[in-house]
Amino acid sequence: MNYENVFNNQIILDAKEIQTRKDYLCLQDKDVELLKKLKTVIQENIDTLIKAFYDHLSNFKDLTDLWLDMKSLDRLLTAQRGYLLGVFDGKYDKTYFEERLKIGRTHHKVKLPTKWYIGAYNIYRSLIIPLISEKYKDDKKLCTESIIAFEKVINLDLQLAIDSYIYNYNHSLQEKIKELKLYQDALDNTMEAIIVTDLAGNTKYVSNGFERITGYKRDEALGKNPSILKSEFTHPAFTSAMWESVVSKGWWEGELVNKKKNGEHWDCYLNITTVKDTFGVPYAFIGTLKDTTIEKRKLASVEASEAEMEKTQKELRGAYQDTVFMLAVACEATDETTGAHVKRIQRYSEALAREVGFSGRQAEQIGISSILHDVGKIYIPVSILKKPAKLSPDEWEIMKTHTIRGEQLLVNKPYFQTARQIARCHHENFDGTGYPNGISGGAIPIAAQIAKLADMYDALITKRPYKEAWPEEAAYNEILSVSGKSLNPIVVNAFRKIYDAGVFKSIRENPL
Ligand code: HEM
Repeated sequence: MNYENVFNNQIILDAKEIQTRKDYLCLQDKDVELLKKLKTVIQENIDTLIKAFYDHLSNFKDLTDLWLDMKSLDRLLTAQRGYLLGVFDGKYDKTYFEERLKIGRTHHKVKLPTKWYIGAYNIYRSLIIPLISEKYKDDKKLCTESIIAFEKVINLDLQLAIDSYIYNYNHSLQEKIKELKLYQDALDNTMEAIIVTDLAGNTKYVSNGFERITGYKRDEALGKNPSILKSEFTHPAFTSAMWESVVSKGWWEGELVNKKKNGEHWDCYLNITTVKDTFGVPYAFIGTLKDTTIEKRKLASVEASEAEMEKTQKELRGAYQDTVFMLAVACEATDETTGAHVKRIQRYSEALAREVGFSGRQAEQIGISSILHDVGKIYIPVSILKKPAKLSPDEWEIMKTHTIRGEQLLVNKPYFQTARQIARCHHENFDGTGYPNGISGGAIPIAAQIAKLADMYDALITKRPYKEAWPEEAAYNEILSVSGKSLNPIVVNAFRKIYDAGVFKSIRENPL
């Protein structure tokens, strides 16, 4: 049948086609007249016919799959009644044809198998033919002609219902194919390479992305094993571990280096999953391969520049520390040129800061900053600085300015803030008796208190032109004795701990 004449998913039969069908079945006007004459018999026996239809159906257990509720059974039996009487109306026009086509559509919708449909017709035949024979028992010719007319119209109905059934079946199939086509187009057009194999590893499908990335045409890949992509960098042990994971867990993902058709290597992020049927039985594998070559190159260059940056930062930090160190040595009033004193102060301060609880970076910053505590002395005249006798009150006032001048000398930038605090406050006393401001307790920056202790200890144990070096124990006791006076007890406590642990001794013996 030609399904071109279809509207709203319903076959449309024009007058010509209707006539053609009647002609093919040899349904003539005389048949129509005969059928009309049978209507009374059908009317009289309609209940018996419907009951027979129902009893026949009830014989089959699998019918229960179809019956959804009693309402639809009622509707079916009413439809049967209307249908049977309609057959003998004698109006085989457009409406009649359309109703017959509708039967096929409804049966397709309720998924009625044709075995039942045609079987039911046989029940009607087996009852209606004896009724006709009975009616015309005295006129054999009329009886035969009437039975044949009945058969003709039944065949007409069957044809129409089956045609419509087939059309609808095909239509659903087309819809399903369209849906599948969408899945295939979607897979075809993904950026990744997609490959599907059967359980034996024969390639059944590859996406456009596969062709693009690997250089293999679809026809070249189909039927082959995906190992055509394998490069010499993939060790057999790697491959077997990969498949072990796919078999045991149902999937695997990871990185590997593959080879294109032209021999070029490419970085691949591969994901293999087992494809299972509705019962959970695996029947295929699907692999998604992402080309990560460019990403990997970018990552490598970022890593390289990060390493480069870290190196530069380290160099800069080193240069900063060297510069600070040189400045500190240059400003030293002790005439010492090796810088050992400066280095000791740095390391004592750093160790104390760490013990007090500063992080490694902060302690390092306090250490390096502590050596600038006396930079302000560069402004103090040598006559005062190196005076062998006691300073006069005026000279002492000038000497005290090295704290503020030191702070001013250091640039007001973040990396000099600790050094500025230390330069200004390293002569402040915890009890408020120091200078230049006479601040006390927590008001004195802790970094300044640390540098002060480190400087004090070093001054005590070092020989100077005007004094002998103190014995270690005396210096130690002296520091402890000024806790809470000139020094912050927290810092003194930290000193005691690390001194007892031998830290100061090791710095003193090996400062550089
Ligand atoms: C001589 C054979 C049959 C004929 C002529 C026939 C006719 C019809 C007609 C005219 C309709 C109503 C269509 C509509 O209004 O859309 C219908 C609906 C239906 N038929 Fe049949 N039928 C036949 C056999 C069967 C059989 C054997 C079964 C099941 C075992 C069946 C199950 C149904 C069902 C479930 C419906 C839909 C009822 C509803 O929920 O509305 N039919 N049939």
